[in-house]
Amino acid sequence: MALRSMDALAVEGRRVLLRLDLNVPVKDGKVGDETRIREAAPTVRALADRGAVVIACSHLGRAKGAPDPALSLAPVAPVLERHVGRPVRFVGDLVGDTARAAVAAARPGDVLLLENLRFDKGEESNDPAFCAALRALADVYVNDAFGTAHRAHASTAGVAQLFAERAAGPLMAREIHALSKVRDDPARPFVAVVGGAKISGKLETLQSLASLADTLVLVGGMANTFMLAQGLQVGRSLVEADLVDTAREILATAGARGATVVLPSDVVVASGLDAPGRVVPAAAVGPEDMILDIGPAARTAIAGVLAGARTAFWNGPAGVFEREAFAAGTLAIAQAMAASTGFTVVGGGESVAAVHQAGVAARLGHVSTGGGASLEFLAGMVLPGVAVLGEP
Ligand code: 3PG
Repeated sequence: MALRSMDALAVEGRRVLLRLDLNVPVKDGKVGDETRIREAAPTVRALADRGAVVIACSHLGRAKGAPDPALSLAPVAPVLERHVGRPVRFVGDLVGDTARAAVAAARPGDVLLLENLRFDKGEESNDPAFCAALRALADVYVNDAFGTAHRAHASTAGVAQLFAERAAGPLMAREIHALSKVRDDPARPFVAVVGGAKISGKLETLQSLASLADTLVLVGGMANTFMLAQGLQVGRSLVEADLVDTAREILATAGARGATVVLPSDVVVASGLDAPGRVVPAAAVGPEDMILDIGPAARTAIAGVLAGARTAFWNGPAGVFEREAFAAGTLAIAQAMAASTGFTVVGGGESVAAVHQAGVAARLGHVSTGGGASLEFLAGMVLPGVAVLGEP
C-alpha cells in the first residue's frame, strides 16, 4: 500500500495536527530513554521550517481517561525542544479553551505540544465528539506515530478520517518501508530472533514468522514454554503451560517447511533473581532452578546463525535484561545483529535499549520505534493508523 506523503501536503501558514509517539519512560518528572523523541524531532522541525503551525500530540503511558500528573507530557516538551532546535510550547490542555487559544495565537513556525491524549476518555474509545474537537484545531493531519499505529484510537484512526488532507510522516514511512522489506520480500536466509517473557502477546507474530523465516531463534522466558513442549524440564522458570500445544503447533509449522528452530542449548539458572547464576545445559535444569538468561554456548550458536543471515529481525530480550547478572545474552544478540552483514531490523523497547546499551544502533539496518506495532505489522495484521493513510 502506498502511503500519502507529508511532502505532498501544503502546510505553509496552516495548522498541522501532528500525531507523534512520545510514549517514553518518565520517572519523577525526568525523561529516560529519548529515542522516540529524537526520532520524532526531524518531522517537527521540517514542518516548522516549512512555515506550519505545528500542533504536536501524543499519549504517555496508560492514563485511564482522566488527568494524572505523573503521566503529563510536560517533562517531554523541553527534551523535544532540545532535539528540534526550536521553542516547543507545552499547552497543558487538549481540546479546551486553553488549547484553542494557544492555537489561535500561534504563528507560522511555532510548535505547540498538547497534553497527554489519554487524559481524555474519548481517545481510547475513538469517540466521535473527541475526534471532532481535535479536528477543529487544525487544517491538515500528519501521523508519524508508528509505535501507536496498531491502536484504533481517536488521534490515530478516528480523527484522520475527518481530514481530507492527511499524510504519513517520514518516520512512519521509514518504518513501513523497512518492515515491509522483512515481511514481504526478505533476502534469504531470513533469521528471526524472538524473545521476551511470554508467548501470549506475540502469538500471531510467532505463527507468521514460523511460516516466513528460514531460521527461528527462540530465547527469553518464552523459550521455556517451547522447551517444555519438547519434553525438557524447566524447573521453577516462567512458563505458559496452557500454551504448550500452541508452541508445538508453531514448531510443527516451521518444521513442515524445512525451517530450523533454534532453542538455547545452555542457560543461566539461579534460585531467584538475587541469587548467583550458574550455566547448565538446557537438558539439565533442576527442579528448583529458574532460567534467567541464555548461556555462552547458545550465544555463540545464535551469533553463528546471524552471521549467515541476509535478513535478520530481532524482538525481545534473551533474559532478565534489567539485571546485569542476566543481561549477557541480550547484549550478545545486539552485538551479533550488528555484526551481521544482512539487512537487520530490531524492534521492541528492551531490544532497542540493549542495542543502545551495546552502542551498536548505528550498525543496524533499522531500529524500530514500534514494539507491538512492529510485531503486528510483521504478523500481517492491518494497522488502523496506517490503513487510513493509504493513497486513495
Ligand atoms: C508502545 O509503547 O508500544 C506504544 O506507544 C503504544 O502504547 P500502548 O501499548 O500503551 O498502547
